[in-house]
Amino acid sequence: MKVSMVVNGLAREIEAPSNALLVDVLRQNLRLTGVHVGCDTSQCGACTVRMDGRAVKSCTVLVGQAEGSEVTTIEGLGAPGALHPLQAAFQETHALQCGFCTPGMIMSALDLIESGEPLDEAAVRDGLDGNFCRCTGYHNIVRAVLLAAGANA
Ligand code: FES
Ligand code: FES
Repeated sequence: MKVSMVVNGLAREIEAPSNALLVDVLRQNLRLTGVHVGCDTSQCGACTVRMDGRAVKSCTVLVGQAEGSEVTTIEGLGAPGALHPLQAAFQETHALQCGFCTPGMIMSALDLIESGEPLDEAAVRDGLDGNFCRCTGYHNIVRAVLLAAGANA
């Protein structure tokens, strides 16, 4: 099937099998390899991207469901030398080690911040409970999100 979507601000037309997953199309067709696959079973959050302004686990989205949508991956946020505030906060608070979880963590954190809900440590931990990190123990990730949100870290 042919699918049209806007990815990181660019209109794209993609030819893919109807049972292809959005995560695979992003990684394999568009080479956006900042979108990671940690489990493929909707548990780890490494594949999280934004679709029409909401965080989604792209391993749970069939490519046809993304028809006509706007998709943002980590490659669509900031740039070297002009980091997005969340990327800068992760850097400042040392909120990553191997970095495998980081793109998905940041896309989910963006959702959380843009929700406008008041954020404190508990709210950030709750909001990121669908994103797993095997390295950091989460403490500095929570600090980074609070820093980016302008709350007390
Ligand atoms: S790869 Fe999608 S949730 Fe783990
Ligand atoms: S930094 Fe390694 S999994 Fe999170």
